[in-house]
Amino acid sequence: MNKVIERTMIVPNMHLLEIETPEIASKIKPGQFIIVRANDEGERIPLSVADWNSEKGTITIVFMEVGASTGALACLQAGDELATCVGPLGNETQIANYGTVLCIGGCYGIGSIYPVARALKEAGNQIITVLEARSSYLLYWVKKFATLSNKIFNITRDGSLGMKGHINRLTEIINSLPKPPDRIIVNGCTYLMAHASELTRELGITTLVNLNPIMIDGTGMCGVCRVTVADQRKFACVDGPEFNGHEVDWKEFLARRKAYMNEETLFFRKSAPKPAVHKEGKCQA
Ligand SMILES: Cc1cc2nc3c(=O)[nH]c(=O)nc-3n(C[C@H](O)[C@H](O)[C@H](O)COP(=O)(O)OP(=O)(O)OC[C@H]3O[C@@H](n4cnc5c(N)ncnc54)[C@H](O)[C@@H]3O)c2cc1C
Ligand code: FES
Repeated sequence: MNKVIERTMIVPNMHLLEIETPEIASKIKPGQFIIVRANDEGERIPLSVADWNSEKGTITIVFMEVGASTGALACLQAGDELATCVGPLGNETQIANYGTVLCIGGCYGIGSIYPVARALKEAGNQIITVLEARSSYLLYWVKKFATLSNKIFNITRDGSLGMKGHINRLTEIINSLPKPPDRIIVNGCTYLMAHASELTRELGITTLVNLNPIMIDGTGMCGVCRVTVADQRKFACVDGPEFNGHEVDWKEFLARRKAYMNEETLFFRKSAPKPAVHKEGKCQA
């Protein structure tokens, strides 16, 4: 159960994890997530599903190594078993023919937006893709996106590939298109989603974001993932994780995400295998 088929670092600090879990693989839909625990002592963390193969009974995750739990996942090898793998959780992305959809992915969100873009393409949409990273060596799946995108824009902070800058180039990208997209979907870090929503609010284009608050149970029981959307209290795990980015209270969201920052940092310093001390394929913790 929950056997690791593959765990590879695809770009620095970003890992691909393929897990054998036939039940989840047969039910998962674009936009949904799972909750995993790397080992019996580990905490439960939510991760979006980036791909799956229902015949083989496997799902694929792309995760960024940021702290203790993702550090433990980064030490897994083919043949290991996850202590917990629960899902599918959350609501699926509403797939329909909207016309043109602009899909934006940054850091782990490049992986998680892939099945969304693929399903939207299959539904007849024109897909414009924007991939964002600090440098070209941190971008991945560019070729995979190129095969399903009508147009693809890469943005790198250092200008080593595509446009130089960050998501602040979004308005320029939209203005360069023959007509504005009918909707925009953004997956990735909080800054990327909040900033993109701020820019598209002015343009009046529906913008959906895949919120990533702290979660525990992922089934609406604990209340940890509470967010305010359109002045209403929502639980991201059962009401989301996808919401209208123009309606999210981003200030509150950012504050709640940092709630356990000190404890996490302390724990990570004390116990976790740091990215610098484990070599690919060989955990030295
Ligand atoms: C629905 C959903 C889908 C997600 N999908 C992905 C994904 O596909 N790939 C990926 O790399 N990450 C994803 N995340 C974020 C991922 O869950 C966190 O990066 C992870 O929990 C960090 O754990 P850690 O112990 O390694 O780091 P920590 O030391 O716990 O924290 C590092 C950072 O992550 C934040 N964080 C801590 N715990 C959580 C938590 N339980 N949920 C969310 N954020 C947290 C902290 O505020 C801090 O900013 C997703 C989050 C949600 C809610
Ligand atoms: S994670 Fe507990 S209510 Fe959403």
